[in-house]
Amino acid sequence: MYPLTFLLISLCSPYPIIATGHWCYDSQSAKCGPSTWKNDNHICGMKKQSPINIVTKKAQFDGALSPIIFNGYDKTGRKWEMQNNGHSLQVKLQGDITIKGGNLPNTYKAVQFHFHWGTDSHPGSEHTIDGEQYPMELHIVHQNEKYTSFSEALNYDDGLAVLGFLFEESSEKNSKITDFIDMLKYVPYPGNKTWLEPFPLSKIIPDEELHKYYRYRGSLTTPTCNQVVIWTVFEETIPISKSQLNAFSENLYFSDSKHMKLNFRPVQNLNDRAVYVTGSAVRLFSAVGLSVGLAVWTSIFN
Ligand SMILES: *[C@@H]1O[C@H](CO)[C@@H](O)[C@H](O)[C@H]1NC(C)=O
Ligand SMILES: [Zn+2]
Repeated sequence: MYPLTFLLISLCSPYPIIATGHWCYDSQSAKCGPSTWKNDNHICGMKKQSPINIVTKKAQFDGALSPIIFNGYDKTGRKWEMQNNGHSLQVKLQGDITIKGGNLPNTYKAVQFHFHWGTDSHPGSEHTIDGEQYPMELHIVHQNEKYTSFSEALNYDDGLAVLGFLFEESSEKNSKITDFIDMLKYVPYPGNKTWLEPFPLSKIIPDEELHKYYRYRGSLTTPTCNQVVIWTVFEETIPISKSQLNAFSENLYFSDSKHMKLNFRPVQNLNDRAVYVTGSAVRLFSAVGLSVGLAVWTSIFN
């Protein structure tokens, strides 16, 4: 009886998951940092990895990239569980929250969100734009509804759709995330969990229209690095003050009791992939046409 009970407890506890593969970030130890992940997880060394640096000039306009349709993002429903999972701060989502549109092949159900951040003096986003790293990045992970479980979805290249939002430092506090940040102190150590008061997911993403975004095919940015993610990285950023940012690294710890910070994977090679951007070539050409027209007009009349 005892060994079975022990086995069940092991399966349900987050600790064995944290221990598997023993991977870490360079801020913890170079011995298990991102450059070593491929030793235990060969997929981490493959050619469609994330994150990447997005070179905006090289992004290809794609007219099929319609606005993402958010369903249930505005609903205040059930309580969600916030957890320090040893690598990040993660919130497990429940309720009927989905995205579709945006040239996604299906409807995708929101499963969890988590963050990647830096330090007081070093930015910590995973994706970079034209070489610029941002202070923090939010990932909202969605699973293709056609698969019955998250682990099943990890086997298919259309399995997941992750929305990436970059944060930009603001002089004012972002009052919409104050309550959320106040909860960090309840989950300092890996395995610690707490329940959040219900809030709509729309509260943590930008208010503005989210019609401009980048799209590419990539991977999970943590082992086992499965190449199953349709990435959407929005141009619109989320404001956050310095003290709000610092609250993450001050309140949270890795399993080695070092402050949790710089928990981002460095950018990976694009290899033979393309990055697409919303908008159409027609719009680009009409913009070019307009400027040529203006130049001609100016030269004639001046
Ligand atoms: C948080 O985790 C630590 C280390 O595992 C444990 O000692 C502590 O009791 C946990 N705290 C709560 C509130 O769960
Ligand atoms: Zn992530």
